[in-house]
Amino acid sequence: MENMQHERLLIIDFGSQVTQLIARRLRELNVYCEIHPYQKVTDAVLAEFAPKAVILSGGPDSVTREGSPRAPESLWDLGVPVLGICYGQQTMMTQLGGKVVSGHGTSEFGRAFVKPHGKLTLLDGWFLTEKEQVWMSHGDHVSEIAPGFEVYGTSPNAPFAVTADVARNFYAVQFHPEVHHTPNGAKLYENFVRLAGFTGDWTMGAYREQAIAAIREQVGDKQVICGLSGGVDSSVAAVLIHEAIGDQLTCVFVDHGLLRQGEAEEVVTMFRDNYNMPLIHADEQDLFLGELDGQSDPETKRKIIGKLFIDVFQKYANGIEGAEFLAQGTLYPDVIESVSFSGGPSVTIKSHHNVGGLPEKMGLKLVEPLRELFKDEVRALGRELGLPPSFIGRHPFPGPGLAIRCPGEITREKLEILRKADAVYIDQIRKHGLYDDIWQAFVAILPVRTVGVMGDGRTYDFACALRAVTSVDGMTADYYPFTHDFLGETATRIINEVQGINRVTYDITSKPPGTIEWE
Ligand code: XMP
Repeated sequence: MENMQHERLLIIDFGSQVTQLIARRLRELNVYCEIHPYQKVTDAVLAEFAPKAVILSGGPDSVTREGSPRAPESLWDLGVPVLGICYGQQTMMTQLGGKVVSGHGTSEFGRAFVKPHGKLTLLDGWFLTEKEQVWMSHGDHVSEIAPGFEVYGTSPNAPFAVTADVARNFYAVQFHPEVHHTPNGAKLYENFVRLAGFTGDWTMGAYREQAIAAIREQVGDKQVICGLSGGVDSSVAAVLIHEAIGDQLTCVFVDHGLLRQGEAEEVVTMFRDNYNMPLIHADEQDLFLGELDGQSDPETKRKIIGKLFIDVFQKYANGIEGAEFLAQGTLYPDVIESVSFSGGPSVTIKSHHNVGGLPEKMGLKLVEPLRELFKDEVRALGRELGLPPSFIGRHPFPGPGLAIRCPGEITREKLEILRKADAVYIDQIRKHGLYDDIWQAFVAILPVRTVGVMGDGRTYDFACALRAVTSVDGMTADYYPFTHDFLGETATRIINEVQGINRVTYDITSKPPGTIEWE
């Protein structure tokens, strides 16, 4: 991804789990950066990259081990500000003449508090209270700082928590300012890029331009296929790629009969009619529902859906001549990797990913333009691309769809009832202005009938559960605290408007111990 127009910051990655968060903090400051694995940053690469500043990430190795990773020696003569974090701090000290020790008593994991020791521009805005919370995660520590460095912050277990050689603009911190548990960490990055002279010329618009150029370069004149689920990630990926290569992109939307009310029409109208994208609407409801007939075990249901998805996608994709690439809306949190996402070893895609396994089977290469982004950044990119706000703000919807919201056996009758109840529930949430406060909301139809009385008659219908959770990433979640008035009004509407349901419950389980979906 060459782009000489922007001021560039280089992150040398030593394999930390949170290196990508550094990039994210920098993008929030409108600073363009690239992450390169340490193995690839030779003196020549460094000179060609011409960074305005360099950050050395954390990493799992120990600088005391022979042959452990190092920054290129020419870095110290480049004349640009350098910030070393955790392992980056330790290699910096080692390379510049300090000492690092490992072994018993040198490690520190979790929350710690740093106290000031003199004044440092890097820490402007810090220490408004007497100490700052930071996140430590290190096995080794610096025992002697390099010549020219001074101490500017200490913690009980890290006498060299913050050090700097101000004359040379070298800064070193033992903790991780990029993580959420260092609440004032963003300020530290802001100070660093300010003292490096960045003007903040990097925006989502610029990201879009660069991503488009990169897609064109990768794909050339070949064909790309994209599995469209109607979710935000695959939608943004499709629109971006379409903007880059136009009709070389064909989207395949698999309708497995487990979609919500009106969903298939919405997706097809939006992409085929509004965006004029080549789109295959694969109506495979009979196939999926037929194979699922009589199945009640959650894992069996998931496996059937996953396998059929691949079969069906492959069937349609085979019909697209010259397809060499498969586009996916993989986000950074989906990327599980050991060293680095850029140029490191190949990635493992989440096992529940709908088209996971396809690339190997079909011999396709991946196009993943969102691999460096987090969910909220994808939404910002979607806005930048002009996707309607209502589409961008949609709650996540799982690949197996309503199948996992219909515990036990799936029947067309139950699915129909579920769709109607879900539509009423979401309508209620929207009417009360709560949709955007909620991470995900849906109805699950329960495999139980209960007795009720409506008018003067006895009823024997299904019970359903309403689910609504708040979450940051879907990994943990809490139930949404609706008012009793809202719940009462919604239950009444569902029972009145949806034939087949005579009892409504509200699921108040958090995750953990529950999961968001019912299966
Ligand atoms: P759970 O139920 O595990 O869900 O708490 C966490 C988030 O992941 C979504 N989810 C899936 N998404 N394929 C998907 O694309 C799946 O198989 C799948 N299972 C769960 C779920 O909707 C929630 O947002």
